[in-house]
Amino acid sequence: MPKYTWEDLTEYPITPGYSVAQGRVIAGEMIAVMKNWYINPHKDGKGIGANQHCHPEEMWIILTQGECEFREGDGEWGTLKPGDVHFIPPYVMHEVRATEPYEFIAIKNLINGHSIYNTTWEPGAKEAWQKVVDAYDESKKFPNNDPWFEGSGR
Ligand SMILES: [Fe+2]
Repeated sequence: MPKYTWEDLTEYPITPGYSVAQGRVIAGEMIAVMKNWYINPHKDGKGIGANQHCHPEEMWIILTQGECEFREGDGEWGTLKPGDVHFIPPYVMHEVRATEPYEFIAIKNLINGHSIYNTTWEPGAKEAWQKVVDAYDESKKFPNNDPWFEGSGR
């Protein structure tokens, strides 16, 4: 059974183009799990986070320590506290800022040829992914009769 210890993994800047997060990544075949945190925060932690951006992956955030504010597009800012779970759909603009230093677990699907490190595409990868998206059958999105999804809050 593969087992990982966060402290044994290499620490990287996470999407340094728009974020000041630092983190560690465990990447499987289709999903990556990251433990991220914000370094060098202001004294009160405010204003540090990720500038507005989007990515083709969907992303789940589970705040584990501290507190931050989050918003999609030009929408209202919401507060995330430890234990809160936040879902960011693919290609939805979002941004985050600390109200105090914080740490979170992030979960992203992996897309062939798309870097979760800096969101760049390998040549031809974006077009290949677009074909997958275009072929996606919305009507088969989730099994409609699956009670787990009925109670999932989505
Ligand atoms: Fe993001």
